[in-house]
Amino acid sequence: MFKHKSSAFAALLLGVSATAVSAQVLEPTTPPQAPNFDAQGEPIFVKRSDIYDYRALDSYNEPDFVQAFVDSGALPPVEERLPNEPLVYNVANMPDGAGEYGDVMRHVIGGRPEGWNFWGGQSQGWGGIDIGLTECLTRTGPLFTVEPSDLEPMPNLAKSWEWSDDGMTLTVHLIEGAKWSDGDPFDTEDIAFYWDDVIMDSELTPLMGASQATYNGATLDIVDDYTFTMSFDTAFPEAVLYAMAYGNFCPGPSHVLKPEHPKYGGESYESFRNAFPPETLGFPVMGAWAVVEYRSDDIVVLRRNPYYWKVDSEGNQLPYLNEMHYRLSTWADRDVQAVAGTGDFSNLEQAENYVESLRRAAEADSPARLAFGPRTIGYSALPNLSANGWGDPDDRAQAIRDLNRDINFRKAISYALDRQRLGESLVKGPFTTIYPGGIYAGTSFYDADSTVYYPYSVETAKHFLEEAGLVDTDGNGFVNHPADVLGGADVQMTLLAQSDYQTDKNLAEGFVAIMEEAGLKVTLNLLPGKDYDDARYAGRYDWYVYRNTAEMITVVQQTTQLAPVGPTTALQHRANDAGEMDLLPWEQELVDVVNAFIASRDPAERVELMKRYQKLHTENLYSVGLTAYPGALIINKRFANIPAGAPIFMYNWAEDNIMRERVYVPTDAQQDYELHPNTLPSSDGPVTAG
Ligand code: GLA
Repeated sequence: MFKHKSSAFAALLLGVSATAVSAQVLEPTTPPQAPNFDAQGEPIFVKRSDIYDYRALDSYNEPDFVQAFVDSGALPPVEERLPNEPLVYNVANMPDGAGEYGDVMRHVIGGRPEGWNFWGGQSQGWGGIDIGLTECLTRTGPLFTVEPSDLEPMPNLAKSWEWSDDGMTLTVHLIEGAKWSDGDPFDTEDIAFYWDDVIMDSELTPLMGASQATYNGATLDIVDDYTFTMSFDTAFPEAVLYAMAYGNFCPGPSHVLKPEHPKYGGESYESFRNAFPPETLGFPVMGAWAVVEYRSDDIVVLRRNPYYWKVDSEGNQLPYLNEMHYRLSTWADRDVQAVAGTGDFSNLEQAENYVESLRRAAEADSPARLAFGPRTIGYSALPNLSANGWGDPDDRAQAIRDLNRDINFRKAISYALDRQRLGESLVKGPFTTIYPGGIYAGTSFYDADSTVYYPYSVETAKHFLEEAGLVDTDGNGFVNHPADVLGGADVQMTLLAQSDYQTDKNLAEGFVAIMEEAGLKVTLNLLPGKDYDDARYAGRYDWYVYRNTAEMITVVQQTTQLAPVGPTTALQHRANDAGEMDLLPWEQELVDVVNAFIASRDPAERVELMKRYQKLHTENLYSVGLTAYPGALIINKRFANIPAGAPIFMYNWAEDNIMRERVYVPTDAQQDYELHPNTLPSSDGPVTAG
C-alpha cells in the first residue's frame, strides 16, 4: 500500500524537516468501508401513476371558509377555478388517507427573502419557501418512493410529453386550464416569457442558475396555448426531463413579471429584479400557498391558494393545510424548535445538533418524531480551476489558480486532510464517514473500485507540496512560492464558506487548522448565504466549502453540473468574460463522459460511463470530499400523510419529498396556530371572509 521514498528524496525532505527520518509516501487506495448506519423507515415503492394522475371528477369540495367567498361572489365556484382535468392524488397511495382541512405547518428558516423575483435571481430564504411557492414542469421529490423500473420525473405543470422518432424534439403538453393564484390563466405565455426573456436573456440568471446549457442547449418553440417543443442537437437527451423539475423550469407569472422587464417597458434589469420586494403581498403563484404577511426578521405567513390545481381522488381541493409559517430565525434554531414543538419541521443536517436532538426526540413526551435516512449530506472543498480570468483574480489569487491546476497541489490538500478527525469534530459515533469526493457511497451509480482515495498522511501531503514547487524557504512553518512567483512569499490561500450554518463554519475552520499542520496557510472568508452564493457564481474565490447537491446522489439530475459542459454549468470552473474556457485535458475527458452519459439510453453503458466519471473525478480531485453523513427528518407528531422513509435530501429536499399539499392534521389534533383565519391571498392584499 505504501512506497518508500528514494533516499535522494528523503535527503531533500531532511533539508526541510529535521525530524523526518524515513519519510513515506502513501499510494492512493479505495475508500474505507463506511460505519454501518441503518436508515429508519423504508419507502414503499410504487409506480408514479399510483401516486397521482390527471382526470375530471364528478364534484369537488373546498373548506367552508373558502365556500363563503364563493357565496358572496368574491370567488368563482371551485369547479371553475380548477382545470378541467386537475392533478388528482390517489387517496389509496396516501399513508393516512384523505385529509381534513385546517391547521398550519410552522417552518423555521435561516435565510431571508430578498423578494419574490426568483427569475431575477432573488432568494426567498430557502427552507422550503420557494419550493412551495413555485411549481415546475416536472417533479422529482417524490421519486424516492418510485420503483426503479418506473424511474422518470413525475409530471406536474407538464402533464405529459413525447419524443419525436429521431429523439431530436420533445413535445411538452401543459396542464390545461390551471390558473395562477390571482386567477390569471397559466399557459405558454408563461413558458415563452421564462424562455425568451429569462433563460435566453444574458442579463438575467434565475435563482438556481438555469441557462440554455441546463436544458442541453435546447431551442424552444411555442405550438399553442398548452403545447411547446424543445429541439436538441443530440437524440433523446432525457436528462432534460430532470432539468425541468424544481430549481430550473419553474415558470413565473408573466402577466406581472413582463411589464417590469426592460424589453417590455421596465426601467432596467435592476428595477426588474427588485420589482417584488418581500413586502409585496399576494404575488401570484402556482404553489399551494401564497404570501399574506411579511414581517422583516420575524415571519412570512402564507395562506392557501384558492386556485390550486390539485385535488385528492375524493374531490377535495388541496392543500389540506390552510396556512404556512416561515419564522425568520437561524438554521440551528430550526432543529431546536422542531424538537421542542414550537416549530413543526426540520431537516436535521447540522451534525453538531444530533446528540441533543436525538436525546430529546427519544423522550416519551417528545412532540416530534425524528427519523434518520441514508447518508446523503456531504461536504466538499472545491478548487477554482480557471486560470484565464473568471472572477478577476489579483496576482495572489492567480498564483493560487495556477497551483489549483497542478495535480500535485490538489493531491497535497487531499492527503493533508484528516477526514476522520474532521467528521468526528462535528459529531462522534457512526454518523460521519470518510468521503473522498464525487458520487456518494451507497447511491445507485457509486462504484467503490472506481473511487480513488488519497489517504491521510501529512508526510505525503508535504511531498506533493514540494512536487508543486512549494517549500518553506523562510522557516516560518508555511510553504512559500518559488522565488520567481510573488517574490517567494508565503502561499496564502483563501477558503470561502458560508456563515449561515454552524457545520459549514466548523468544517471550514477544521480545514484551515488541518492545512496548517501540512504547512499551508489558509485564511477563511466567511460570508452569509447570499453573498457566498454570489461570490462562488462569480468565481471570486480560491477554494470553497460546498454542501453537495443532487447530482452527486442521483447523477441523473443536474447532470450538466457534473462537469464544465457549458460556460456556466460547472461549480468550480466557468468561462471568463469573453466566454472562453481553459479546460485541463482531464476536465475535457470529464465533459466527454458527461455528454456521453446524457446522450446514452443504454443502462449498462451509463453505469460504465459513471464509473469512468468517478475515476476521473476522484483521481484528478475535481473536488476534494470532506465528510458525508445521514440527515434526519424531524416533524411534529400531529401531522398525517408523511410518507415512510422520506429522506431529508435525495432528488429534492424533504419539503418537496413529503408532498406538503397532501399533508394534514386530523381534526381532533388540530391546533390554534392560524394567524390569519378565514383569509385568502389576493393581489390587492389578504382578504378575510365575513
Ligand atoms: C436550506 C436548508 C435545507 C432545505 C433547503 C430547502 O438549504 O438547509 O435543509 O430546507 O433549504 O431549499
